[in-house]
Amino acid sequence: MNATATFDPFSPDAGTHQGGALDGHALVQGDYGTAVLGYDLASQVLRDKRFQNSALRLMEEFGITAGPVHDFRARSIIMLEGDPHLRLRVPLARFMSPVTVRNTRDVLRRIVESINADLDDSAPVDFYRGVAQRIPSLVYCHLAGAPASDAPQVQSLSERTLSLLTRDRSLTPVIVEAYDELFAYLAGLIARKRAEGLGDDMLSYLISLGDEGKLTEQEVLTEATSMLEASSVNTAHQVGLVVWTLLRDREAWQRIVADPELIPAAVVESLRLFPRTGVVSKIAVEDVELEGTVIPKGSDVHVAVWSANRDPGRFERPEEFDLDRERNQPLTFSTGSHNCLGQGLAKAEMEEVVRHLAEHYPDARVVEDATRIGQAGGRWLVDRLTVHMKP
Ligand code: HEM
Repeated sequence: MNATATFDPFSPDAGTHQGGALDGHALVQGDYGTAVLGYDLASQVLRDKRFQNSALRLMEEFGITAGPVHDFRARSIIMLEGDPHLRLRVPLARFMSPVTVRNTRDVLRRIVESINADLDDSAPVDFYRGVAQRIPSLVYCHLAGAPASDAPQVQSLSERTLSLLTRDRSLTPVIVEAYDELFAYLAGLIARKRAEGLGDDMLSYLISLGDEGKLTEQEVLTEATSMLEASSVNTAHQVGLVVWTLLRDREAWQRIVADPELIPAAVVESLRLFPRTGVVSKIAVEDVELEGTVIPKGSDVHVAVWSANRDPGRFERPEEFDLDRERNQPLTFSTGSHNCLGQGLAKAEMEEVVRHLAEHYPDARVVEDATRIGQAGGRWLVDRLTVHMKP
């Protein structure tokens, strides 16, 4: 443990921290609690059930200490461990299998094509708002069996509920209102599905598990809520970050245009260098010894994914974008029992956006002076991404 080195995992330059240990220490202490910087230790903490997600505590710090929003969070998949966690995780993992992702590819392509067809590509395009932000909510609607016309509301609900993670306490009323709207939206959708007949979508699947007694009514709503809040905002920013990374590395981009087989590797390497989830925050549920230091029960442990992803002990020349990197397993989607259930789908969305760009706009370029990419609250975020599609 390094108690003297200064590293704040939430500081504006944390995302480009050299990566890995600081002065030889993979664990550092600050006012915020403990930060985990090295790749191996980060993987170990993310896999250790003695660390629980800090989302409920964050909510309580925001003044949300009781009521339906607090109850939802306390009972949600991200907060549970052991059998109660598996009860919620197994059905969603079954639905979000590689088969679902494979079967969704054609729909993803159609969504990407239809969004691009709306663009005026003769002038620089607001790529974040015009493309990246619109795709994930349309994909969620397809998956959940909601009408595509609901996508703007889904996008806005995901954005407003997860604004908790910005750690800006003035947002409490926005967050509570957003969850109330989300619960009402899903309850209405579930009732309509029951009335109109179930299909082969995710909500129908959850409802049928409820009918078979495998999930309670409350659990059906909780599962659907967890999926909706997670569906859009992180993917939208990550799509923007991937496109920004690839279009600025002209050598890599030319290789991708010439050989689209490289796209999956290009997406993973971008996810490594610019992870939307730069910090995954946990709480020790008992005293835990890490590298000879006791982390007391109840203390905050922030896994600095953006540092672990640039750990020179794990990734050779970590600052470089390397299309040929082997064993490339960044921690952007976490690891262990809570690893992201939407990662296959999110990667497929990014791959289809890049494929479309490489095929139709091989000369596309980022307009640097009309682009703002930054970090806040432990996340990389796209404030503005302007792309000249046909310079
Ligand atoms: C690029 C986009 C995304 C990123 C960076 C991301 C990141 C993450 C991370 C870091 C976690 C784990 C947190 C922890 O260990 O405590 C997580 C969990 C989760 N994600 Fe994602 N996510 C993304 C997209 C999605 C999508 C599209 C969905 C669903 C459609 C989704 C659904 C979930 C769910 C349900 C969990 C909870 C899993 C559990 O607790 O067992 N995510 N995500």
